[in-house]
Amino acid sequence: MRVYVVEDYDRLSKKAAQIVASQIRLNPSSVLGLATGSTPLGMYKELIKMHKEEELDFSEIKTFNLDEYYMLNKDNPQSYHSYMYENLFKHVNINRKKIYIPNGMNENIEEECLRYEREIEKAGGIDLQILGIGRNGHIGFNEPDLKFEALTHLVQLDDDTINANSRFFQDLDDVPTKAISMGIKTIMHSRKILLLANGKEKAVAIKNTLTGEIKPEVPASILQLHPDIVVIVDKETAQSLNIDRNCNKLV
Ligand code: GLP
Repeated sequence: MRVYVVEDYDRLSKKAAQIVASQIRLNPSSVLGLATGSTPLGMYKELIKMHKEEELDFSEIKTFNLDEYYMLNKDNPQSYHSYMYENLFKHVNINRKKIYIPNGMNENIEEECLRYEREIEKAGGIDLQILGIGRNGHIGFNEPDLKFEALTHLVQLDDDTINANSRFFQDLDDVPTKAISMGIKTIMHSRKILLLANGKEKAVAIKNTLTGEIKPEVPASILQLHPDIVVIVDKETAQSLNIDRNCNKLV
C-alpha cells in the first residue's frame, strides 16, 4: 500500500487525475471503476481539463460505477447517473455504449445485480477502481456489516449515510434509503485501487481503514489486503497517521 499525503484538496485532485490519466495512457481501453460523492469531483474536473488540453482520450475506455440509488429515476438530478454525466461523461469523448451504471429502477433487483457482475466479468474485470470513503468506513455503499463477501447487491443505507447524503437533496425524506452497490468482493477483484479522502471528518475512517483491525464493521479495512492500492489523503485526513514521507509508507 502506498499512501500519499498532500497539502490540500486541489493537490489531491491533481494527483488522482494524474494516476487515472496514466492508466488511460498505458492502456487506452482500460476498464475504470468510478465513484461519486464530493471527493472525486476535483479529480473529474482535472481529467476533463486533460482531455481538452492534453488530448487525454476516453474513446476506448469502459466504465463501471460503484453504485446507484434504488428507485430513483436515472434522469433525477440526484441520481449517480446524472452526476456522472454532469461531472465527467458529457465533457469527454467517452463512448456512451461503454458506460455501465447499475439500473436502480429494475424491479428485478437480483437480475440487475447478476447482470452487472456479468458485464464486469465480460469486460475482463476492473483495471483501476476509484474509491471515496464514508465517515463510517463504507466504500461504494457497503455499510458496516457482519460479513465482507458480497458481490453487487441491494443495500439498506445506514442513517449516518442517509444524513450525510441529504446535503444533495431538498429534504431528508427525499433521500433514497436503499441502493445497488458493487460488493466488497467485486471491489477487491479490481486489479488496482485508488482510494481518496480529504477533510478532518474522514480522519477516523481513514485511520481505522489503514491501521485498524480488518473487520466488516469497518468495510474499507479489507483494503489492507489488496495487493495494489494507492491512497491519497490531504493533511487534515492524515492528522493521526504515521507516514514515512520518504517512501510514502505507513509506519
Ligand atoms: C456515498 C457514495 C460513496 C462515497 C461516499 C462519500 O456514500 N456511495 O461512493 O465514497 O458517499 O462521499 P463524499 O465523497 O461526498 O464524502
